[in-house]
Amino acid sequence: MPQFRLVVLISGRGSNLQAILDVCQTGCLNAEVVAVISNRPDASGLQYAAAAGIPYQVIDHTGFADRVTFDQALAQCIGRYMPDLVLLAGFMRVLTPGFVAQFTGRLLNIHPSLLPAFPGLHTHQRALDAGVTQHGVSVHFVTPELDGGPVIAQSIVPVLPEDDEAQLAARVLVAEHQLYPVVVQWLVAGRLSLNAQQQPVLDGATLDEPVCFQQ
Ligand code: GAR
Repeated sequence: MPQFRLVVLISGRGSNLQAILDVCQTGCLNAEVVAVISNRPDASGLQYAAAAGIPYQVIDHTGFADRVTFDQALAQCIGRYMPDLVLLAGFMRVLTPGFVAQFTGRLLNIHPSLLPAFPGLHTHQRALDAGVTQHGVSVHFVTPELDGGPVIAQSIVPVLPEDDEAQLAARVLVAEHQLYPVVVQWLVAGRLSLNAQQQPVLDGATLDEPVCFQQ
């Protein structure tokens, strides 16, 4: 049977990409990363693709007049690899509705907060500033709204009294590297989909709440 094909989009460090590559390598994820695409030429995560012998492309968003033309080029590039699923892994661009519509139910994002809390940037410092006792990570289907699509699963990470931003970020990152492969495997196994009402369906049941793991 042909392998489930993943295209991973990154903008920077690429640790979530590496976590996905690791589980593909060990066979815990029955999928193959067929390409990595970055919108930044200096994304250090491209090294992980190179080291794994995976084709990678840079589509530098600064060379495009607007979001629509960048997203068209991105969609065209992704299409060449015929993916079953596209993973945003630290891809720090808002995507246009036209782009998102082409990948409905086949586009996932990982975000370092318990959405809907703290969409956008600097989530760990904002969680500390807000004094929350629980923080974490969310994996969601992508919609045009920034970090706003239906959440599939979350991993809760406790905030400790002595935490600073770096400590909290490091603990959440461990949870990210565990959670993303789990959700991707649900899709690969045909257990997870997005229904016409834009709700995630897992094992035949509509998810009214995200599946929750405790770190
Ligand atoms: C991760 O923490 C990811 O959740 C976050 O960017 C980081 C990328 O790290 N994504 C977002 O904030 C999306 N809104 P990585 O490049 O090492 O995977």
